[in-house]
Amino acid sequence: MRKKKSGKNKAASTNFPNWAKWLSATAALIVVLVGGSLGVGAQLENNDQFCASCHTNPETTFVDRTTQPATDLASAHAAENVGCIACHSGEGFAGRLDAMKLGARDLIAFAKRDFPQPAQLTHAIPDGNCLKCHSNIDQAQTFENHFHVLLPRWQSARPESAASCVDCHTGHDTAGRPDLKWVSVDPTQQQCNACHRVMGD
Ligand code: HEC
Ligand code: HEC
Ligand code: HEC
Ligand code: HEC
Ligand code: HEC
Repeated sequence: MRKKKSGKNKAASTNFPNWAKWLSATAALIVVLVGGSLGVGAQLENNDQFCASCHTNPETTFVDRTTQPATDLASAHAAENVGCIACHSGEGFAGRLDAMKLGARDLIAFAKRDFPQPAQLTHAIPDGNCLKCHSNIDQAQTFENHFHVLLPRWQSARPESAASCVDCHTGHDTAGRPDLKWVSVDPTQQQCNACHRVMGD
């Protein structure tokens, strides 16, 4: 999946990506989108440095962290050879296609230099993106795991307000607790309480 990379990251030191990189990223994406050459596209997407070819600070720090000891959930995944695109796309071909559509929008925005910096998440990451690898989280039917086991019930009772995985498991928050599998304590506590209000007693 992830390619071996050198320790230093060029994009991080400059505020604007250089044109050569931009052109190669653009050319590559056009090949993917127009040519339909999915093989080439998938190769590129699987390389985390590809993401850094457009994304500038602070997002390049997300990529930098993948070559250092883990400091957040995303870099902990990098250590397991799980790259950026894995969390940022859904299951199977349809999931990849949705990610590519978002990529096409982003490419146009990038070419026009018309985009907010730092990047904003306009498409929340759905649980399916995580469950494609973590479908067994409800296997342990214990109290210690009740927040995973009961989650689907909360979600079907209150689809609009119930937590999704990433409400507790933030991707890039370095305030996450490694001893608690990188969950961010404050937002997680809020979700614990929210479910207790709905499902408690
Ligand atoms: C061709 C340049 C380019 C490349 C390559 C690129 N991005 Fe982006 N990305 C953008 C632009 C432009 C935006 C939207 C504007 C913004 O919010 O900064 C964006 C937005 C995003 C967002 C927010 C999406 C939303 O709206 O919810 C995420 C997440 C993201 N990119 C992740 C990635 C990942 C992961 C990769 C590598 C697989 C990647 N990007 C590669 C240019 C790019
Ligand atoms: C491509 C597969 C894949 C995807 C997608 C994925 N993970 Fe993981 N995840 C792993 C692997 C592999 C590990 C390490 C082995 C393990 O603990 O299961 C892991 C570990 C974890 C851990 C434990 C971290 C630790 O330090 O022990 C958490 C929490 C986690 N993932 C949450 C998520 C969440 C939330 C998402 C979605 C945003 C997600 N994962 C998406 C494969 C994936
Ligand atoms: C209400 C908050 C909350 C939600 C929502 C949540 N988790 Fe967790 N998750 C936690 C906590 C807290 C831990 C750490 C448990 C520990 O180590 O004691 C954890 C641990 C994990 C782990 C590490 C392995 C394990 O079971 O200990 C994985 C993987 C994981 N969660 C995946 C997910 C996925 C996938 C979703 C969405 C379907 C999700 N979580 C939803 C709070 C949550
Ligand atoms: C474990 C799953 C996971 C991995 C791996 C991952 N992300 Fe994310 N990403 C998230 C989540 C969840 C968010 C939503 C914001 C948050 O929770 O920090 C996010 C948000 C983003 C955003 C939107 C800006 C923001 O801060 O909200 C960008 C851009 C982004 N990620 C890029 C990347 C890049 C580049 C990589 C590879 C180095 C990567 N992501 C790897 C889960 C992941
Ligand atoms: C999906 C719903 C849900 C989530 C999320 C959830 N809980 Fe619970 N929790 C319950 C239910 C239901 C009970 C049993 C009824 C009660 O005591 O409120 C319970 C009970 C408890 C109890 C025992 C309460 C008591 O008064 O004895 C503790 C402690 C607890 N949860 C901790 C947590 C923590 C910590 C989190 C977040 C990491 C969490 N829960 C997330 C549903 C949830």
